[in-house]
Amino acid sequence: MKPIILDVDTGIDDALAISYAVNSPELELLGVTTCFGNVTVQEATRNTLLVLEHLDSSLPVIPGAAKPFFVSRVKASAVHIHGRDGMGNTLSDGKLPKREASSQYAPQFIIDQVRSRPHQVTIITVAAMTNLALAIMQAPDIVNLVDNVIVMGGAVTRAGNATPHAEANIYADPEAADYVFASGIPITLVGLDVTMETLLPKKDVEVWRDKQTTLGDLMADMTDFYIDAYEDFYPGIGGCGLHDPLAVGVAIHPDFVTTSPMHVRVDLEGFHTLGRTVGDLRSKPANQPNMQVCLQVDADRFLKHFLSRVV
Ligand code: BDR
Ligand code: CA
Repeated sequence: MKPIILDVDTGIDDALAISYAVNSPELELLGVTTCFGNVTVQEATRNTLLVLEHLDSSLPVIPGAAKPFFVSRVKASAVHIHGRDGMGNTLSDGKLPKREASSQYAPQFIIDQVRSRPHQVTIITVAAMTNLALAIMQAPDIVNLVDNVIVMGGAVTRAGNATPHAEANIYADPEAADYVFASGIPITLVGLDVTMETLLPKKDVEVWRDKQTTLGDLMADMTDFYIDAYEDFYPGIGGCGLHDPLAVGVAIHPDFVTTSPMHVRVDLEGFHTLGRTVGDLRSKPANQPNMQVCLQVDADRFLKHFLSRVV
């Protein structure tokens, strides 16, 4: 079993990723850390606890950053994609989880777990990268102690989603992402380059509803909202991007994707390009690669695997 920390901003596709991860015996989830992004960190923590409740899981949920690492900017709203509550408007007003989040702080949890299991832990970030940046700033030794960091973020070879060039998780905290990218920590980048190839159509969601379980109903209601939002955003697309679940999939089966070593940094200044992940695609790059970038995905194989486990 691979020890995993999953860092989320739950979020509909985060909820799908959590369910997929919890139901995957190859992964030993050490805890789920939360960050601002799709919603506030308090809402992300609540949503994560509620999803885990549906999964009968008592995994620790550790709240993290409420704001960006270094510079606070006005952020793109995710209400149209994830709903007012981050769960596709499925939560009744005032709905609270039965249990409480951990009193620890996510960056400290990351440091403690990585140090206690040297060279073993994989961190999967599917939110702004603030918690990991704070952890590295406080404990630079963890850079050489993790097994890998799988990042859902960026768009190296295709358009962004938050802006024409920037993907939402990177755009939420560009300085945090760039700090992590420059730190020397091993990274696999699961960006829109591949996640926009893994589309989930409505017909597959109907199957979850047919199961007549509270988990199936919740996941189906949320995901219907998400697919409708995608259809609004990308008319004719026929499904929603399985961004965060693919990052989990890559932890389970790295061969779902084909990667290329590359030097990638984040644009921190561009007026039109803030948050863009700039990969050095030249035949003779100026710098050594700092990550493996996923460029192709076996979408059918991944989708089958995801659907066999998520609900
Ligand atoms: C990413 O942004 C968030 O809205 C999603 O949860 C995912 O992590 C996709 O760009
Ligand atoms: Ca997310």
